[in-house]
Amino acid sequence: MESRKQQIDQLAEQIIADEVCAELAGQATQLVIGDGDPGSQIVFVGEAPGKQEDLQGKPFVGASGKFLDEMLAGIGLERSQVYITNIVKYRPPGNRDPLPEEKRAFWPYLMRQLAIIDPRVIVTLGRHAMNCFIPEGKISQDHGRLRQVRLHRDGQTYLWQVLPLYHPAAALYNGAMRQTLLDDFRKIKPLLDSNSK
Ligand code: URA
Repeated sequence: MESRKQQIDQLAEQIIADEVCAELAGQATQLVIGDGDPGSQIVFVGEAPGKQEDLQGKPFVGASGKFLDEMLAGIGLERSQVYITNIVKYRPPGNRDPLPEEKRAFWPYLMRQLAIIDPRVIVTLGRHAMNCFIPEGKISQDHGRLRQVRLHRDGQTYLWQVLPLYHPAAALYNGAMRQTLLDDFRKIKPLLDSNSK
């Protein structure tokens, strides 16, 4: 049995071989599959790579990534102890929002990625990631509220705990939202400590 890391590397190769979102791929520097520990109990799911992420090939390494690292440090975690990825794995040109068809195209691959990692908690960052798991969710109401989400794919049923949070980029320069995100972030640690994976 291959390691989780090997399985995720194969998934990245599969995305390239399947020519997922070929137009986005053609404009991006590289595929940004994810970063961190694929054996982690916790996975953060953002929207799509930005400029820095596209250049460095890792998610959340720009300004919002720095803020994410700070929040992780605030609850005693390092980036290397969690897994971080995005719904859409190529940078949308000009940092526009990912299109519905782009999110749909990457969804089966994200589900496979999550099945490989099999985390205890999925933390979604921003409304795009939240709505993939909780289509009717409203970020202003549902942030910080843990949900049990049941999803079916390839004949399998997945039951995941999803904690929707505001996106760090949205909260970075908005004092009230920033405090809400910091408060919500503190709900992560007890979920991990409650029992082991
Ligand atoms: N914003 C995201 O949603 N993802 C990244 O990787 C970087 C910024």
